[in-house]
Amino acid sequence: MNMLTEAAVEKALDQKMSNVPYKMIGQDVSVYYGDKRALFDVNLNIRENTVTALIGPSGCGKSTFLRSLNRMNDTIDGCRVTGKISLDGEDIYDPDIDVVELRARVGMVFQKPNPFPKSIYENVSYGPRIHGLAKSKADLDQIVESSLQRAGLWNEVKDRVHESGTGLSGGQQQRLCIARAVAVSPEVILMDEPCSALDPIATAKVEELIHELRENYTIVIVTHSMQQAARVSQRTAMFHLGNLVEENDTDKMFTNPDDSRTQDYIMGRFG
Ligand SMILES: Nc1ncnc2c1ncn2[C@@H]1O[C@H](COP(=O)(O)OP(=O)(O)OP(=O)(O)O)[C@@H](O)[C@H]1O
Ligand SMILES: [Mg+2]
Repeated sequence: MNMLTEAAVEKALDQKMSNVPYKMIGQDVSVYYGDKRALFDVNLNIRENTVTALIGPSGCGKSTFLRSLNRMNDTIDGCRVTGKISLDGEDIYDPDIDVVELRARVGMVFQKPNPFPKSIYENVSYGPRIHGLAKSKADLDQIVESSLQRAGLWNEVKDRVHESGTGLSGGQQQRLCIARAVAVSPEVILMDEPCSALDPIATAKVEELIHELRENYTIVIVTHSMQQAARVSQRTAMFHLGNLVEENDTDKMFTNPDDSRTQDYIMGRFG
């Protein structure tokens, strides 16, 4: 029998992950809010059909990095991004890029569920309608149903899709927001602490969903829960004071990180 040393197993795992192609490449990404620098030359690549978790103490720049991936920082006055970020090799900060189209390709789910004060159906159909993804009402119905199905919500709402989205429970609202993100067929889904407003049962449902979505989408998730990062992600990136400390296979990050700051954070010694 071929006995593998722990180091060899680790290397094999690394190689397995390192074969996965990059969907997004971030090179020397720095972000400033006015004079204040929030990110320092971050080099972080996002692998395709992989869940990448961003972890680190409050204020370290996780949300800032996440927002730079679909140019949501553009909506913040005085915010400036330098460096280069590409999606399938295309520079997303190129002035010729259509930001609306970019955000359809790189969708986002926020910390607090934020359905529009409209029906469940309208919440999900809005994106496909404005992006012209449906040719007919039947098409649109189909997109709404399949998106709600992919978000694991269809069975709970199929008899009331014309009722208000805000009438759902918090966990259902978050899955509705995931259905809304999925409805425009994004390639990448960014999630900023998507479970922080949810109870353990709703959290488990969203985590299961993330697991399933990974087959078809590239996912980047910010989380304060180390258990969640360990459960849902294959790669983990640790930030500290605006710097990327290290990025590695999730298994390695949680068993044998290279940097003592990662170890300290995971062990709850700071943050
Ligand atoms: N809109 C903003 N205007 C000015 N400064 C900001 C803004 N958003 C974030 N910052 C600053 O940038 C730094 C990084 O913030 P960011 O929100 O990215 O951290 P985070 O890691 O997501 O933290 P948390 O875990 O608390 O959500 C912090 O110092 C924060 O004060
Ligand atoms: Mg944040």
